[in-house]
Amino acid sequence: MADSLNDTLRTQLDVYVTETFVNEDEVLKSIQAEATRNELPAISIRAFEGRLLQMLVHISGAKQIVEIGTLAGYSAVWLARALPAGGKLYTIEKSSKHAAIARDNFTRAGLNARIELLEGDALDSLTKLAPRNPFDMVFIDADRPHYHDYLDWAAANLRPGGLVAAHNAFRSGRVLTPENEDDRFVQDFNVALAKDTRFEAFVVAVGDGFAIGVRK
Ligand SMILES: C[S@@+](CC[C@H](N)C(=O)[O-])C[C@H]1O[C@@H](n2cnc3c(N)ncnc32)[C@H](O)[C@@H]1O
Repeated sequence: MADSLNDTLRTQLDVYVTETFVNEDEVLKSIQAEATRNELPAISIRAFEGRLLQMLVHISGAKQIVEIGTLAGYSAVWLARALPAGGKLYTIEKSSKHAAIARDNFTRAGLNARIELLEGDALDSLTKLAPRNPFDMVFIDADRPHYHDYLDWAAANLRPGGLVAAHNAFRSGRVLTPENEDDRFVQDFNVALAKDTRFEAFVVAVGDGFAIGVRK
């Protein structure tokens, strides 16, 4: 009973925040519609989480961002729109189907000059990107078993003061009582980030939670 009351309040607050602070325009809505039409899994960030990412870009003054996990490009468009002139988002996607849909969406959003999509496995793509460091922000939203590797890459390739943000820190609440492997991976990852002496860490309790680290 208490849970369903909390869930209702949370949903109402999400709607309130979205209506008050978020402008999801027609391009962003159409990206979600395209994802549904192409039967992609409904696992993108939500609009108010996109707005949070934009705020993180602005607060950190990020100019070069790496995103791990593109899907249809929804979060990439939120991020890229927050970049200053001359800024660049590198977004990594291993599924050729997802990459093709995302490329179309970036063209429709008029963001081809600001976004470079690297198609392939994230660890390979990150190795290719490393010579372009230092980066200002790394957004992790892909396969949970590799989150530790992605964190190590971020530690090695972020400038001091740069940000790492990992999505789904709460696993819809299951981080408290893990029910599957991915829940356990995220639980471990959050603890590892919290203890990682390379970062100052916290979790932003917006949406499904963003584990945030600032590179020391
Ligand atoms: C949660 S979705 C990303 C959602 C996207 N960030 C958004 O909010 O719009 C995760 C994506 O990561 C991709 N992915 C999973 N493992 C990967 C890997 N090892 N390398 C590259 N991409 C991967 C999946 O194919 C999927 O498209």
